[in-house]
Amino acid sequence: MKPKVSLVLAALFLSVGAIFAGTPTATTAASVDSNASYKGDVCYQIVTDRFYDGDTTNNNPAQSAGLYDSSQSNWKLYWGGDWAGIQAKMAYLRDMGVTAVWISPPVDNIDTAAVYNGVPNAGYHGYWARDFKTPEEHFGSWSDFDNLISAAHANGIKVVIDWAPNHTSPADVNNASFAEDGALYDAGNFVASYSNDPNGYFHHNGGITNWDDRYETQYKNLADLADLEQTSPFVNQYLEDALDLWLAKDVDGIRMDAVKHMTFGWQRAYNDNILQDNDLYIFGEWYLGGYTDPLYDDNVRFADESGTAVLDFYLNRAIRDSFGYGQSMYTLDNAITKTGGDYKYKENLVTFIDNHDMPRFLSINNDQGQLHLALAFLMTVRGTPCLYYGTEQYLHNDTNGGGDPYNRPMMNSWNQSTTAYQLVNKLSALKQNQPALQYGDHQQRWINDDVYIYERQFYDNVVLVAINKSASWQNITGLYTALPPGTYSDQLNGLLGGHNITVNNGSGGNNPISSWWLGPGRAMVWSYNPPEPAAPQLGSAAPTLTRTGNTITLEGLGFGTLNSNSRVYFKAGGSQYQANIVSWETHRIKATVPAGVPSGLRQVQVVTGGGSSNTYDVMVLANEQVPVTFQVNNANTGWGEQVYLTGDAYELSNWSTATTSGGNNPVFGGALGPAVTYSGFYPSWQLTTSLPCGTAVQFKFIKVDSSGNVTWEGGGNHSYTTPACGSGAPGSVTVNWQN
Ligand code: NOJ
Ligand code: NOJ
Repeated sequence: MKPKVSLVLAALFLSVGAIFAGTPTATTAASVDSNASYKGDVCYQIVTDRFYDGDTTNNNPAQSAGLYDSSQSNWKLYWGGDWAGIQAKMAYLRDMGVTAVWISPPVDNIDTAAVYNGVPNAGYHGYWARDFKTPEEHFGSWSDFDNLISAAHANGIKVVIDWAPNHTSPADVNNASFAEDGALYDAGNFVASYSNDPNGYFHHNGGITNWDDRYETQYKNLADLADLEQTSPFVNQYLEDALDLWLAKDVDGIRMDAVKHMTFGWQRAYNDNILQDNDLYIFGEWYLGGYTDPLYDDNVRFADESGTAVLDFYLNRAIRDSFGYGQSMYTLDNAITKTGGDYKYKENLVTFIDNHDMPRFLSINNDQGQLHLALAFLMTVRGTPCLYYGTEQYLHNDTNGGGDPYNRPMMNSWNQSTTAYQLVNKLSALKQNQPALQYGDHQQRWINDDVYIYERQFYDNVVLVAINKSASWQNITGLYTALPPGTYSDQLNGLLGGHNITVNNGSGGNNPISSWWLGPGRAMVWSYNPPEPAAPQLGSAAPTLTRTGNTITLEGLGFGTLNSNSRVYFKAGGSQYQANIVSWETHRIKATVPAGVPSGLRQVQVVTGGGSSNTYDVMVLANEQVPVTFQVNNANTGWGEQVYLTGDAYELSNWSTATTSGGNNPVFGGALGPAVTYSGFYPSWQLTTSLPCGTAVQFKFIKVDSSGNVTWEGGGNHSYTTPACGSGAPGSVTVNWQN
């Protein structure tokens, strides 16, 4: 019987030509041994307290008794979820295709409730730290954390911790006995509290009211949370040491909280300190209020140059607008085009449909069909998709519109056969094996208000995606693709109504598809991988912030096996510097940045006996970074004028005067700033930067008006020598504006 069946099948195949059904070349699959890039990963965000109660003995710990609500009716108290619970569900996550879990901040949160309007609030979400060096007792012990990491790694899953160094916990400036008064502890020992802060470990500037003002957002309290002064030598050292304790546990990534609320310079120096001895990925939360957020450009420069990728709030809005609120597919396409032009490392963005700070998708549009389409889009577009826990179970609670805290229900079902679960599973497998989805360009191929057909391409690797969010059949005429001629099966196996497609012969990488009808509410995905290329093709270098001695991970195709022709180069102008190879696989190389590479934006290249790859830009810093706060006095400005800093080091922009003033797009490597001021400080301005340690620099401030006109300080350059290497001490320098 069997031979006959296969003969019949073979005949069928012959009649339609070869069907490209799968992914012939195994490519750079996500790996727990390689954490610098998440381009092939599928992330899953867990609110630890709301996922699964794996250990009931930690539900109501003695030291913080009363913060647990077994009835799960006060949404602001602990409900029992913990690290043992996440560990218990590891197979469920693995089978869904999750390769990285992002968990709530793991650090010890307040033990005494903050009572608002008579309702006790606990730090069940993890963002109300009291001791960054101690695990939160409701989540588990250090050994529970170790067990979680081991279980995750055994299942091929990375662990990303949320980390919130911007602040401690709620403080009421008028009432020192409110909650814990923002108190900070150092492995159990009291350090300071908001009203007992003789050494200035906190900012005391009141709460943020103008969320678009750089000074307010960085130097005032976010909500009522006691805002840490990160450049205080103690706080800086404490935050470095605390994070090191967690990273020593083999953590694979960090989600930095509230990055908009800390200075660029302190954060880059902090990241540099992390990256010098950890192989991991850092992404941060820069909340954007909309498509025209006034700090959008700051967010782009932060993502490009700080070593922290950002969560893609811009695209998030477009996804919700298109699939959630019925706006046109052009909204999505415009968002892809804009962010694709603005972010230098757009493939490092972390994309999402919803999270713990906004209503879940089904609360804004209770239509599972549209959720599936949004998921199909998320899993095939540039960036690392991050699913909010329970999305695959259609979890939502719509009380008061479903915002915080109702977007954080207890996870209550674990059904592995939902359409959403299956969808993620299939597209995760594709994402991990398809370089086009990891590094590829994005091209719109066919669009109207309801239909979006787009293509991702990396060299000859191609994925074509078609989505119809309307309730009607759509006639697709004049569609072209870079898929080679042939017939392709739907990578979703018809899960969302997809089917085969046949590509005809065309020219110039534009192959026609005969007109066809795309059904209502359907999504389909076709994929092609060519054979392994003879010459290397470089898709990723990470991290993009690096320096001599640091490890860098290169991913792509055609690297072959290590032999006497295998090289990695860092190129600077006409010179090239050969890197030291740590490991070499066909699709992944680890190397260390060689001595002598001059600081600057440098081009990494892979060379083999088969040829030379394309290059990939990375920022090579001059040395260990230290935060340095610059202040300029007497810098009077006209209406609309901003003050920037420039100077003679790469980290000082090499005397660039380029800024976003005058309607420019975000300027990679431009002058630093703008500096901030406030009433009572003006005409003084300040700016925290990240500079190489033990280095003499020359600098000046410039004023830039709203048309982009530059006024230089007069006189000679200012000079300053940054703090000694290894001292760990942040620096500061104050000058008077020279007319
Ligand atoms: C952003 C987090 O995502 C949010 O949930 C938290 O309350 C604030 N930052 C403060 O940490
Ligand atoms: C050009 C500026 O005009 C000058 O003021 C500045 O000192 C130099 N760049 C840097 O040497």
